[in-house]
Amino acid sequence: MKRFFSLILCLALAINIAGCSSKPEKTDDKDLYVIGFSQVGAESDWRIANTKSMTETFTEEKGYELRMENARQMQDNQFAAVRTFILEGVDCIIIAPTVEDGWETVLKEVQDAGIPVIIMDRSVSVDDKDLYLTNIGSDFLEQGNMAVSWLEKETADKPANESVRILHLQGTYGATAQLLRTKALEVAVAKHSDWEFAAQLYGDFTEAKAYEVVTDYLKTDRNIDVIYSENDNMTYGAMRALDDAGITYGENGQVKIISFDATKRALQYCLDGQINLCVECNPLHGPKVEDLITKYRNGETIPKHVYVEETAFTSADLTQEFVDSREY
Ligand code: AHR
Repeated sequence: MKRFFSLILCLALAINIAGCSSKPEKTDDKDLYVIGFSQVGAESDWRIANTKSMTETFTEEKGYELRMENARQMQDNQFAAVRTFILEGVDCIIIAPTVEDGWETVLKEVQDAGIPVIIMDRSVSVDDKDLYLTNIGSDFLEQGNMAVSWLEKETADKPANESVRILHLQGTYGATAQLLRTKALEVAVAKHSDWEFAAQLYGDFTEAKAYEVVTDYLKTDRNIDVIYSENDNMTYGAMRALDDAGITYGENGQVKIISFDATKRALQYCLDGQINLCVECNPLHGPKVEDLITKYRNGETIPKHVYVEETAFTSADLTQEFVDSREY
C-alpha cells in the first residue's frame, strides 16, 4: 500500500515538473498567502534596508509566508528561484531584477502557471507588458536629472574656459538604476561643452569594487572636479580611495561628490560636509507592495507602474535630528 501511495506521489510530481497547465498545489497546509521573492543580493545598505522592509511587511501574523531567495547579483540565480516558486505553487512572485534584459522566457513560464508577478525596485524590458501585474520602484531617470540640475547650478559661475571633469562610478551594467542614472549624466555631458568624463568606471554598486577602481585610477589622474557615484556604497569606496591619495573632497575640498540612495550614513557625511549632494532612492517598498497585493486580491485595478516619491539633499537641507531619525 505504502509503495502504491509513493507511486501516486511520484506521478503527481512528474506531471507538475512536465509543465502540466493546472496550478500546482502549495506545499504548506496553513492558510497563508505564499509569496516567492527573488531579491538581487546584499550588495548595498540600500538593498539590506529593502530586504528588511519586505521581511517586516510580509509576516505570518499578517497572513503571509515570504520565501526569499538571494540571487547574489546573478540573473541565472533569479531564473532558478522563480522556477522553484512555480513548482512550489506560490500565490504570487515578486522579482527585484538584477538587470532589465532576458526575462521573457521565465516570465512566460510564470504566466502559464497562472501566478501573478510584481516587479519591484528596478524594471524588466519585455515587449509583452501582460507578463507582469505591476512595476513599483524609483524614477531613476528623475534621480539622475536631479543630480544634473544641482551640478548645473553649482558650476554656473565658474570661468567659461574651465572644464568640469567628472569621474563617473557606474553600478551593475544593465540594471535600471545604472542605465537611467547613467543616461541622465551622459545627456548632460553631451549638452554642456565644458563638461567632460575623466573616466567611467565600473563599481558594481559595491564599496569594495569602487575602492579598487578609484584607487587604481588616481594613480594616473588626480585632476577630478566631480565624482558622480551611482550608489552610496560606491561613494564610501571612492572616499577611502581619495583619502589614501590625499585628495580632498566635499564642501571645502577639490572634488564635489554626488551620491545616490541617501541612506543614513551618507546623509551623515552630507551633513558633515563630506558629500555634496545625496539623491534619494527609497528602499521601503514593503508596505507599498502589500497595498498593491491587497488591491489585486480584492479584484481592484492596479496601475501598471508605480513610482515612489523622492528628493535630493545638500547639507543645508539636513539637521542632525533628521539624520538620526532616518529609517535606513
Ligand atoms: O536598484 C536600486 C539600487 O540598487 C540602489 O541604488 C543600490 O544601492 C542598490 O544596490
